[in-house]
Amino acid sequence: MQAKRILLVIGGGVAAYKTLELIRRLREQGARVRAVLTAAGKQFVTPLSVASLAGSPVFDDLFSLTDETEIGHIQISREADLVVVAPATADLLAKMAQGHADDLASTLLLATDKKILVAPAMNLRMWLHPATRRNVALLRGDGVIFVGPEEGDMACGEYGPGRMSEPAAILAAIDAALRGDTTIPLPGGVLGLAGRRVVVTSGPTHEPIDPVRYLGNRSSGKQGHAIAAAAARAGAEVVLVSGPVELQDPPGVATRHVSTAAEMLAAVEAALPADIFIAAAAVSDWRVGEIAAQKLKKGGAPTALPLVENPDILALLAQRQEARPRLVVGFAAETENLLDNAQAKLARKNCDVIVANDVGDKAAGVMGEEENQVTIVTRGGTQTWPRLRKEHVALKLIAYLSKLLEGRGDA
Ligand code: CTP
Repeated sequence: MQAKRILLVIGGGVAAYKTLELIRRLREQGARVRAVLTAAGKQFVTPLSVASLAGSPVFDDLFSLTDETEIGHIQISREADLVVVAPATADLLAKMAQGHADDLASTLLLATDKKILVAPAMNLRMWLHPATRRNVALLRGDGVIFVGPEEGDMACGEYGPGRMSEPAAILAAIDAALRGDTTIPLPGGVLGLAGRRVVVTSGPTHEPIDPVRYLGNRSSGKQGHAIAAAAARAGAEVVLVSGPVELQDPPGVATRHVSTAAEMLAAVEAALPADIFIAAAAVSDWRVGEIAAQKLKKGGAPTALPLVENPDILALLAQRQEARPRLVVGFAAETENLLDNAQAKLARKNCDVIVANDVGDKAAGVMGEEENQVTIVTRGGTQTWPRLRKEHVALKLIAYLSKLLEGRGDA
């Protein structure tokens, strides 16, 4: 925490009194706090008490000439190491999710290039309302970190989820957030992939054994779907070929649903030509040679299940003579010799980039998780990225690929 700069946005909720304690604790641990009060926040705590505890002036007005000449709102939002919103009201979350910028707090939250941590506080019905659920999902997708809310008695006399987390819990979440990379990467500069076509595979494949059973794997599709969403945000026309997953189709992406590796290959080929092909799917290496026409019965357990190799979609795309995408990107989950194996895979499959993660003996700890730690391997070298949320890995990857496509890459 020592010398870390926290920009604290205080929204209008009864829980704002707990934020005063949070400021005191942050400063005790050596952090520097700059506080911004919303108009509603001022109804619950006074600028004077916030300023006294923070040891610096409180900002509350977007159009204050003094504030703007001394320090502009963009500067306030950028010079922080982390932005914290506590209490984060339903209205503040809605504004953030929709990108409103009609007061100082919402403008800072839109202008910042730093991670945002929110501590929601509201009545339980407001927290459980579908509108708030949607906003929370959008914000999580944008990489916003949530702490709480907790379940308990509320100031309004009801009981349920909606209480702001205690200062100690918020402090611990701030500490954890500060340990990671707090800068949010821009997706490929401004619309870095406008006019480009990107095809992404994601999720597992299901290879049928009989009409009800299949061979599958634990892939959740989170990383591949996040990549498709990031490419769309960067302005690309995106086709996502998805195996069976429990995720929503990303907005602005043409999603094709498939089940087997053979269907995935056919859908990928139908989506060509493309500038970039990203193979994020965990394609089953094998399928069952002869699929039983009827459900296999309990008594007649097959003594063997002969498997045949599936087409390697990544290798086929990378080795195409005609209509080869300019950039072919593969994934590699390695358990040992990460870099050597990734380099070998790059050469063997003829791809341009391998996104490698060392899963050690914890493959299940990456699959389905929210975070990923990857190393980018090209013929020119390697770079290891910090552990990031999968959405951020996706944005960083898209930014990296759009540079590579323009010949500005360092790879
Ligand atoms: N892949 C694919 N089609 C397959 C198998 C894999 O497109 N039939 C792609 C995955 O989407 C991923 C990469 O290839 O981008 C992963 O390769 P991986 O399965 O790890 O490597 P293998 O070729 O199976 O080699 P090995 O099992 O020896 O690591």
